[in-house]
Amino acid sequence: MTIVAVGQTDLEVGNLPHNRQRIRRLLDDADHAGVQVLVLPELANSGYVFADRAEAAACAEHIPEGATCRLLAEWSQGGRLVVCGICERADDGTLYNAAAVFASGEHKTTYRKLHLFGKEGDLFAPGDTPLPVIAHGGFRYGVMICFDWLFPEAARTLALQGAHIILHPANLVLPYCQAAMITRSIENRIFTATANRYGEERGTVFSGMSQMTSPRGAVIVRAAERWRGVLSAALDLALAEDKMITERNHVLNDRRPEWYRL
Ligand code: ACM
Repeated sequence: MTIVAVGQTDLEVGNLPHNRQRIRRLLDDADHAGVQVLVLPELANSGYVFADRAEAAACAEHIPEGATCRLLAEWSQGGRLVVCGICERADDGTLYNAAAVFASGEHKTTYRKLHLFGKEGDLFAPGDTPLPVIAHGGFRYGVMICFDWLFPEAARTLALQGAHIILHPANLVLPYCQAAMITRSIENRIFTATANRYGEERGTVFSGMSQMTSPRGAVIVRAAERWRGVLSAALDLALAEDKMITERNHVLNDRRPEWYRL
């Protein structure tokens, strides 16, 4: 069994010390709960509703040297894995809505959000890296960020790469994702773990209800809409290797991609 957790919190756009304190608190809670794999929300270092690109740039950090990243790297020592949404400034100054993955004290990969939501496109460059799957401790961990949920291709791409679970930092505002992730689980026979924010920022309300779902579409845990903390569950990730949805139907091998052309 692997103890997987989603951390849900409120954040304040532009208030970096506050956000780091919130992250530190979730890391401490996860530590006390014996968590081995932790998912934290999207843009957790910065907040979300930026006034303009200059404000986003002032919040951005380098991965993996930034202050938030150092906390994550430290927490991941001793065989743990953590993914956290980071407002990233690349070496050339480009801003990305990114997710940084650390495991066993090391930076494993950075995923940059492919499907930017709403006005994010005014602030961030769209992702320029493939959807990643990280091998760790005998299992495979896929990563996508928030609005990627709307595109079934994202979850399917991770499943086709052998991911047992999708780790999904989020700042959800539409009311559909929690239900959609049940479908993403069923159609790929995969676990999902969505870590969302709650609260309000400049008139935008985030929906909380962070959750984990099973390959059979069960909601394993779901947080309240307004709640701060770490919600964990012991998951048998190997269950995601059974892709048979009936005795005769394999959810990946039964696809007919040759007929999916327009
Ligand atoms: C979103 O992608 N943060 C809604």
